[in-house]
Amino acid sequence: MKGIILAGGAGSRLHPMTVAVSKQLMPVYDKPLIYYPLTTLMLAGIREILIITTPRDQPVFQALLGDGSQWGLKLSFIAQDEPRGLADAYRLGADFVDAGPSALILGDNIFYGDGAGRVFAEAGRSLTAERGAMVFAYRVADPRRYGVVELDVAGRPLSIEEKPAFPRSPWAVTGLYFYDGQAPEIAAGLRPSARGELEITDLNRAYMEQGRLGVERLGRGFAWLDTGTPDSLLDAAAFVRTLEQRQGFKIACPEEVAWHMGWIDAAALQALAESFGAADYGAYLRGVLAAG
Ligand code: TTP
Repeated sequence: MKGIILAGGAGSRLHPMTVAVSKQLMPVYDKPLIYYPLTTLMLAGIREILIITTPRDQPVFQALLGDGSQWGLKLSFIAQDEPRGLADAYRLGADFVDAGPSALILGDNIFYGDGAGRVFAEAGRSLTAERGAMVFAYRVADPRRYGVVELDVAGRPLSIEEKPAFPRSPWAVTGLYFYDGQAPEIAAGLRPSARGELEITDLNRAYMEQGRLGVERLGRGFAWLDTGTPDSLLDAAAFVRTLEQRQGFKIACPEEVAWHMGWIDAAALQALAESFGAADYGAYLRGVLAAG
């Protein structure tokens, strides 16, 4: 299973912060935003990842992430020349996914919850000929801002609508999607919506109309945060800081996740820790190593 992180976009709701710097490079407390979706894919067992950025920001992402080998990953980069919408990921990523299954995650989405890696890895494994796509539904107070899915009593999707004025349910579709190898072909047939974007909701609806869309509800013990506005970005940082200070564990530390997954050895983790010099982040990694 391959992964795609969609880390382009205009970030206009965060202007002027994102006039010259990508949203996905903004700090969320102690690390850049993109570390959160990156480690979500890693915890789901995904090591081969395409990062879609704007042409302007691509060199900065490459400077931050390199080729991923330091974390046992294989990263590649592609530029989206203009923000054509979320489903554009499967036009740009068609060669990368090469007709195989893949996960797409939005570069500004944060997932946190006990067993999240297991839940997402299982979702990826659950794709079959009968279930070509798997998405997650999360209860939100204001569904009008999201793609909204309506479910029957058995949990099957009945309708899926993008930013409805009158939502049929409180269940938002989160920014993590698993698709079989047909996603590029379906995306290629999509037309831009009234707001001029290739909508991921239209891709999901195509799977639904074939009877091949699975939806899993994430319970209230899960956190799904987005970071597209100044308030949501600050709220996410406060959330991460609260948990990290209380538990002494970091959320979304790629070095720790790579170690936990067995993708790097002790010598590699030690070297990564040393590369941070006197920064607290390096001390944290030394602690991870000492704990075994
Ligand atoms: P959005 O939050 O919908 O859009 P945005 O980031 O451009 O922000 P704004 O609405 O404030 O202008 O995007 C969700 C994620 O998808 C985010 O990580 C940016 C990314 N994205 C792309 O990479 N390409 C696109 O064409 C779009 C629309 C979004």
